[in-house]
Amino acid sequence: MKTTTDLQRRKLLKYAALGIVGAASYPSWAQTGGFVSVNAPSADFLPDVEIELTMNTADVAILSGNKTHVWKVTGKIIKGSSDVLDNNEGTYLAPTLRLKKGQKVRLILNNNLPAQSILHWHGLHVPANMDGNPMYAVNHGETYIYEFEILNRAGTYWYHAHTHSVTARQVYSGLAGLFIVSDDQEQALKLPHGDQDVALVIQDRSFDSQNQLAYSAHMMRRMQGFLGEQILVNGRPDFVLPVATRAYRLRLLNGSNSRIYKLAWDDGTPLTVIGVDGGLLERPEQHAYVMLAPGERLELWMDFSERALGSEPTLRSLQFDVASHGGMGMMGGGMMGGGHRGMMGRGMMGGGMMSVSALPSGSDYPILKIRVAKKEQGNNTLPKVLTPITALRIKDAANAGNPKTIALSMRHMSALLNGRSYKMNDIQPDEMIPLNSLQLIEFDNGFDGGMHGMMMDMPHPMHLHGEQFQVVKREMSSRSGDSYATVSSGFIDGGWKDTVLVMPGEKVTILKPFNDFKGLFMYHCHNLEHEDMGMMRDFLIK
Ligand code: C2O
Ligand code: CU
Ligand code: CU
Repeated sequence: MKTTTDLQRRKLLKYAALGIVGAASYPSWAQTGGFVSVNAPSADFLPDVEIELTMNTADVAILSGNKTHVWKVTGKIIKGSSDVLDNNEGTYLAPTLRLKKGQKVRLILNNNLPAQSILHWHGLHVPANMDGNPMYAVNHGETYIYEFEILNRAGTYWYHAHTHSVTARQVYSGLAGLFIVSDDQEQALKLPHGDQDVALVIQDRSFDSQNQLAYSAHMMRRMQGFLGEQILVNGRPDFVLPVATRAYRLRLLNGSNSRIYKLAWDDGTPLTVIGVDGGLLERPEQHAYVMLAPGERLELWMDFSERALGSEPTLRSLQFDVASHGGMGMMGGGMMGGGHRGMMGRGMMGGGMMSVSALPSGSDYPILKIRVAKKEQGNNTLPKVLTPITALRIKDAANAGNPKTIALSMRHMSALLNGRSYKMNDIQPDEMIPLNSLQLIEFDNGFDGGMHGMMMDMPHPMHLHGEQFQVVKREMSSRSGDSYATVSSGFIDGGWKDTVLVMPGEKVTILKPFNDFKGLFMYHCHNLEHEDMGMMRDFLIK
């Protein structure tokens, strides 16, 4: 027990140093089922829903033959109705949680893994110490208690491990699941629900000859991000979704470490997009294809009522130019122009990055198949207007005339934000944000041609913790060339977002509110290998 005590003291000091716990709120180290809690539930928090989540090792059948060793979260409802939790048994997926806006939730996270870990609620607007910042990682045998009210509007949120420098591996091992929020406004729309409301988590994995998850942390692999050889949907290969001849709401999450999808129906039917990261759009939009980067969500509406029984529409990822996706590493401007192909150039090509993945990024491959399996009547009308969205205005930003620029760069084998790498408790002056302010922020991925020396062009899906934001504009530098044209009409920039894909040569400007909660909120690249390489920082809201 001595180690536990030391650990608790260490942790308390760590938290105290951050001003998170004062002497008066010294945690009581409550015991929960053999796990030692590092924080205490608060007496005045009365949860509507209380769920115990335990992270454990498990063996699940994914491929035929040997089971696969994974890290699995399993939930138990302590308070609440049975439909708040689906354990996704038999898969590595963490439980799907279904909650309502306004509900107060207590989540008791037990760590029974042979490693430190912590879960983060991606897209949810919760207090800083409930957000799963890596500083709150708990050890084997420990518990972290989360308590928050669901302030978000209806939407497809998710959660995943966010452990310092090992997020990619932990998510890859299975520590990710959906957190679906509904609200009255959304319910009143009578969109397809029940069996017609289907969540689909798209991920890529590689398996060794023993059916075990293979993960390469080789530096070149990490620069590009891990690319698995096989697409899994909801933890299953060759996923087939049986449907009836009626309309469906399909919620897609790209839960992959680094793979970017260019989604389209194989028969050329346009995608009808009704929602993104932070819930429904104002009105449905039709697109020939849609880009979906790691961390992003997309809600599609699809009517199968005119489809023949037995037909099999397939959702594919279409070809897009890999030159802009780090496969070849460099495009236009910078490297090429500067004649600095040197190390990176040879490393990338010679290292055979293009050949190592059986499923190269930007190639054309199927993701999932639908099978129209039965006749059924349903309400198949899609409302013309979904939910009102109040547009944020630049003039309301605290820094309207002076946007906060975040330069994205990869060089010298590191991935940086404004030239900085992640460090705990390393808040710089430009990372302090006044509470309850609206901020104009731009992500600059080499837009102004400021390609400095050894730089590698890659898309970066930029994610900010805390409140959802709005995309104001995308600007593309003239050096973009034809690569950009293979992706440019696939961005859904309307609605509320928490992750935005920034292509090489692009500058994306957003407006983000920082309301309600003080403390540390991260911003980072959601290519998880980049994140672990340091492409992550904290904002301090004060
Ligand atoms: Cu989904 Cu900080 O991440
Ligand atoms: Cu997040
Ligand atoms: Cu990145």
